[in-house]
Amino acid sequence: MKSVLITGCSSGFGLEAAVLLAKSGFRVFATMRDLGKRARLDQALAAAGATAEILQLDVTDETSIRSGVDAVLARAGTIDALVNNAGMGIGGFVEDLTLEDYRRQFETNFFGLVAMTKAVLPHMRRAGAGRIVNISSIGGRTANAVLSAYIASKHAVEGFSEALAFEAALFNVQVVLIEPGTFRTEIFESNRQLAAGARDPASPYFEVTRALETRFNQMYGRFAGDPRQVAKAIRHALVTPRPRLRYLVGRDAKMSAAIHALGFGIYSRLNQRLFALPAMAKKLRNN
Ligand SMILES: NC(=O)c1ccc[n+]([C@@H]2O[C@H](COP(=O)([O-])OP(=O)(O)OC[C@H]3O[C@@H](n4cnc5c(N)ncnc54)[C@H](OP(=O)(O)O)[C@@H]3O)[C@@H](O)[C@H]2O)c1
Repeated sequence: MKSVLITGCSSGFGLEAAVLLAKSGFRVFATMRDLGKRARLDQALAAAGATAEILQLDVTDETSIRSGVDAVLARAGTIDALVNNAGMGIGGFVEDLTLEDYRRQFETNFFGLVAMTKAVLPHMRRAGAGRIVNISSIGGRTANAVLSAYIASKHAVEGFSEALAFEAALFNVQVVLIEPGTFRTEIFESNRQLAAGARDPASPYFEVTRALETRFNQMYGRFAGDPRQVAKAIRHALVTPRPRLRYLVGRDAKMSAAIHALGFGIYSRLNQRLFALPAMAKKLRNN
């Protein structure tokens, strides 16, 4: 039975991946930073007739990482796979985001992922086998207004993962990037975060941010995908004999990447139209 450690399993992709992988015969170590939130995963596992071992792990806390990884090693003997899934997103225009917002964003999405990778890599190197699946985003390849902190953190994840792939291949460890489009998870609901500056009516971006949020909410309501699709992509990345470095997941992600590949000019024209950005520019200059 292959052991897999997943971060951020209290909701969303992490929860769905924990259930699917447990059902598929993996020995799942589903971790979350707050065990007080485990009921949802417990219920999903019970409904699926599957079991997983649930452990506390906060990716921004080195002591917590060490004890989580040690616990998995003590119980399973090895960590065959790591799914770096934990993440969050802070919205806001660049002027409304503080440096502290950027640092907080990177602390979870980038440094947390690096710290987890560094914690498992020595064991995988000595075992001469392993797989690391990093949950990036279409935002790791392309960009949007109002999400610069999140997008920068995911671009960092992409660069780190590609460099790591060369190093890890030397000891038979494969690195995979999952790049989802927009899926229905808590990141856009109870975990949604907007910079304090963006919520301040005195901000020159206040109205524009509201308008963009409304536009996003409409599209999210209509088009956001089922997170189980991402869980399936994670499983594929773990079981396929020769995984690719990158997997785009979702029609929107595939379309966005294809348009972006045609050149930034066409991508930005379509993106600006989609979010009605030119109409907002006038309001902004008058503020
Ligand atoms: N949903 C999408 O459309 C989408 C698209 C592209 C990429 N992604 C990426 O997918 C990953 C999973 O997000 P999701 O969409 O499933 O959102 P989600 O439902 O909000 O799940 C995020 C998970 O990360 C956990 N987390 C946050 N900070 C953590 C920390 N310091 N240590 C450990 N766990 C932490 C959260 O725990 P708490 O419950 O304690 O906050 C939660 O379990 C993220 O990396 C996200 O950037 C999502």
